[in-house]
Amino acid sequence: MKMTGNTILITGGTSGIGLGLALRLHEAGNKVIVAGRRKELLDDITAEHPGIDALVLDVADPDSIARARETVAASHSGLNVLVNNAGIMLPENLLDPAGLQVAEDHVATNLLGTIRMTYAFLPLLVGKDDAVVVNVTSALAFVPFPITPTYSATKAALHSFSDSLRIQLTGADAGVQVIEVVPPGVRTTLMGQQDSDQSMPLDDFLTQALDLLREKPDAKEIVVEPARFIRDAVATGTYDDVLAVISGS
Ligand SMILES: NC(=O)c1ccc[n+]([C@@H]2O[C@H](COP(=O)([O-])OP(=O)(O)OC[C@H]3O[C@@H](n4cnc5c(N)ncnc54)[C@H](OP(=O)(O)O)[C@@H]3O)[C@@H](O)[C@H]2O)c1
Repeated sequence: MKMTGNTILITGGTSGIGLGLALRLHEAGNKVIVAGRRKELLDDITAEHPGIDALVLDVADPDSIARARETVAASHSGLNVLVNNAGIMLPENLLDPAGLQVAEDHVATNLLGTIRMTYAFLPLLVGKDDAVVVNVTSALAFVPFPITPTYSATKAALHSFSDSLRIQLTGADAGVQVIEVVPPGVRTTLMGQQDSDQSMPLDDFLTQALDLLREKPDAKEIVVEPARFIRDAVATGTYDDVLAVISGS
């Protein structure tokens, strides 16, 4: 991925990793469009950062995605990068019937949201120079966090989906790169870990992730060092140990 001169749509751009990426990529000389449900935050971002554009988008709503696609096609015809970053993460008790709604919400937002965004926006990317789809998954795609079972499962599915997407696009000579970003725990409000010593400071994560992107423009995966032991647990034969650590057992 080239690091400047892109037109980039970032879902989940109202806070945390998405907003952090938006600000860094804007500063680096890219046209950035942030998308999310919270209109008041979008208004604040565009007021504070002239040049960044915003779009109300609910990735769990197919009509909202269709509207966003029409808007972007008309207003930003140069779009060449889609960052599928929007996501939710909540604890889920599989023995509590109320957990089913939590599970369905995760599938609708994290998994189906990303798949629907990909179908909607790929036609705008194919044929563009330097076209990229970036999918933000998680280290928990590779070893689950058992208190967030469906969250972890959606991220594992997105890892799988990203691999298939990359192969199909390469096979079709579509000229669209697929990059999976694999964050470790990062201090955001995603699940209330903004002050957690166990999570990586957001600025450190952004710096390391963007450095890796810069150093490896053809990267398939961006894995910062603190995510490495989870990402590589199967390859290093440490899966059971890592699962036990993550489970706190
Ligand atoms: N922080 C971590 O430890 C960590 C670790 C691994 C992976 N990740 C992944 O990183 C991504 C960003 O998370 P974060 O940590 O930055 O958390 P965050 O600050 O809570 O950001 C989540 C973003 O997703 C958006 N979003 C949620 N549901 C949406 C929907 N239905 N439609 C559109 N946007 C929606 C939110 O915006 P609105 O509420 O305005 O819609 C918000 O901007 C997620 O995919 C998460 O799974 C985070």
